[in-house]
Amino acid sequence: MSSDKTIILITGCAGWLASLLIHTLLADPDTPNCHLILADVVQPTSPVGAPAIAFKADLTDTAEIEKLFTTEFGVPDIVYALHGIMSRGAEDNFDLGLKVNIDSVRMLLDAARHYGEAAGKLIKFIFTSSLAVYGGPLPEVVTPNTIATPESAYGMAKLASELAINEYSRRGLVDGRVLRLPTIVVRPGPPAAATSAFLSGIIREPLKGTSAVCPIGTSPTDPKLDALHTWLASPHTTVSNLVHASHIPASRFLRHTRVVCLPGFTASVRELLDALAEVAGPEALELVRFEDDAVSRKIVGSWPARFDDAYARELGFVGDEGGMVPIVRRFKEDVEAGRA
Ligand SMILES: NC(=O)c1ccc[n+]([C@@H]2O[C@H](COP(=O)([O-])OP(=O)(O)OC[C@H]3O[C@@H](n4cnc5c(N)ncnc54)[C@H](O)[C@@H]3O)[C@@H](O)[C@H]2O)c1
Repeated sequence: MSSDKTIILITGCAGWLASLLIHTLLADPDTPNCHLILADVVQPTSPVGAPAIAFKADLTDTAEIEKLFTTEFGVPDIVYALHGIMSRGAEDNFDLGLKVNIDSVRMLLDAARHYGEAAGKLIKFIFTSSLAVYGGPLPEVVTPNTIATPESAYGMAKLASELAINEYSRRGLVDGRVLRLPTIVVRPGPPAAATSAFLSGIIREPLKGTSAVCPIGTSPTDPKLDALHTWLASPHTTVSNLVHASHIPASRFLRHTRVVCLPGFTASVRELLDALAEVAGPEALELVRFEDDAVSRKIVGSWPARFDDAYARELGFVGDEGGMVPIVRRFKEDVEAGRA
């Protein structure tokens, strides 16, 4: 951190998690006098009343990246790399996924390395990865030693970027922190380009009084709903963990890797629907249409749903308490207050 201020560059700021992160950072007592440099290929909005510069920047272009390291705020102390092309988007447009999910991260790392070195600071480089790095045969419970063998363009690119961040950290060029996030529910707004989008949709749409499609099972009593499990976290907890990642001393990470699988909890699709019914009544469930889709079922079913998160918790990361019901309740409050 610079003597009197914390300069933070956040990419993907027109996106969902980054927009939440901005507000959590500004309220964090351990991140004093935040000066934010915000970037996205879509013009991001600056928070009101906080020192911030917002750039419309395509991060696949080195010149655009350079601009982010040469603002009047100075060289960032922390970089949050949150921009990206999500799972379905990267699968459908392989070349764009490679450019954004690997090449631009590598270019951003290099800028952090060179500008950090010139400014005499080791920049903290915080990266959001995903459980999509896993694929193939997996143990019942994924541990920090489970080898990641992705089976998607998105998962492969996340893993490639993780490896680069580990290596840059090992060489002392940046101070990397890689967070493999669970699937985050409930996401507001229109469905995202992710195969997991329905996990939010089956809660969000009924709470807004509109119908949602559940691609698992053909009816509310279908046993497939009990069989399919997912590894989840709330947005609130995830963003708190993103902030916490910047406060962990580098010496506390395992010597050979900066990768941490964040805490989460396991829930079946049935448990999500039960939580909806408990919070919003059985009539909310009637808004869910069951249109079984074998492809979605296979993809979501291939993701690990149980993790040993003891290492993450030792580092001070936290999980959601109480499963889905409090998360659905909070989202309902957000809908009622016009925040979602
Ligand atoms: N939401 C989840 O459940 C989840 C789970 C695991 C990991 N993640 C990761 O967390 C991060 C944030 O996720 P999100 O849900 O907020 O995603 P999002 O899609 O809402 O935001 C991503 C942002 O990246 C921007 N972007 C894309 N290409 C760009 C480019 N060339 N230059 C600059 N900006 C570009 C997009 O415009 C978008 O605003 C991503 O890296 C994602 O892979 C999210």
